[in-house]
Amino acid sequence: MEQVKEYYAKWTEVPQPRKIKTAKLIAFVSYFLFLLLLVVYAFGRTGKKTVTVVPTILFTDGTPYNLEVVRYLAQRRDVVIGMIVVATNALADAQLKANATSVTTLVSALQSEGLKTRVPDVYSSYDAATDSFLGPLDAKLASTTVNFLIVGPCTDAAYFLQQYAGRRGNVNKIYVAGGAFNTAGNAKFLNTSITGAERNFYLDPAAADYVVAMKHARPVVMLPLDAALTWTSSAYSAIVSNSGTTSASATAVAEGLRWYYDAVDKTKRVTVGMAAAAYAVDTEVQTGVKVTTIPVRVYTSAADARYGQSFRPPASAEAKLVTVVLSLNEGTFFSHLTNVDTLALA
Ligand SMILES: *[C@@H]1O[C@H](CO)[C@@H](O)[C@H](O)[C@H]1NC(C)=O
Ligand SMILES: *[C@@H]1O[C@H](CO)[C@@H](O)[C@H](O)[C@H]1NC(C)=O
Repeated sequence: MEQVKEYYAKWTEVPQPRKIKTAKLIAFVSYFLFLLLLVVYAFGRTGKKTVTVVPTILFTDGTPYNLEVVRYLAQRRDVVIGMIVVATNALADAQLKANATSVTTLVSALQSEGLKTRVPDVYSSYDAATDSFLGPLDAKLASTTVNFLIVGPCTDAAYFLQQYAGRRGNVNKIYVAGGAFNTAGNAKFLNTSITGAERNFYLDPAAADYVVAMKHARPVVMLPLDAALTWTSSAYSAIVSNSGTTSASATAVAEGLRWYYDAVDKTKRVTVGMAAAAYAVDTEVQTGVKVTTIPVRVYTSAADARYGQSFRPPASAEAKLVTVVLSLNEGTFFSHLTNVDTLALA
């Protein structure tokens, strides 16, 4: 305080013209600093935002139609596939031609077609005899934040979240493909007495319920059958009929989809898995869509005729809200899908 007084005393002693000069100098220096900061602010940045890509952990199955998701993610250079986990499911093996080897084979094909970087690892279900994903995913989450993308049954993702509760904090978001609300289910193909359930959820209702009930407290985005668009004829002919291609990966995807639309889904809708994958990694696919946030559960009692059906439980204070995507924008979705399909891998 004494010092301030001293300075002030000196300042009052300074003759008037010198005071004005000093004040002018201070104003000039302040103005110069302001300009400098403005320039740093306006031009000092590179223009590009530094985007940290959150790796995607893909939980899929060996069904022929879900191969499409693997190839799509591999073609997106802005996507990092952190790991691929392939579920084993007796019902899918028996009725949906699920074959875990087909995923490994597709990844090898993608690599020989030029996929050099970000080579994804393919691991087996937690209940498989070898190559279980649990240890490797635990190790990865010790240092990395990831998104979960579940395009098959929820078995493995639910198991991991339950068993490795300490790692949940590194799961940024969970995108799950399955369930049905204002549309008919499609699990009838697996069991003719089933009406309202969607296939992925029906393959493991308890695991699906665990994911959407959100006791794990991670944000969940759900892509139910409601969001699965009917293929436009041009997109269908480019990706499913796909007569022009010679690449092994595109051929494997097209063959898998053709089997699916011939044998399983005569309504020719995009799979919920593909809808979820595109939504999860493409911000433009996320714009202009119909979304609701509601609590969601799945019927898990095998004695119940509604086994495997997703539903909206009565509101309660403790119910957590799932972001449910009810419809996608057809134009954006298919134009992006067909554009990605022609991207080179290298
Ligand atoms: C599983 O897929 C692999 C690779 O695509 C194939 O060689 C094998 O025959 C398939 N297995 C069955 C049982 O279809
Ligand atoms: C089909 O669903 C009905 C009704 O839930 C059930 O009773 C039956 O066991 C199921 N059949 C098979 C083969 O799973």
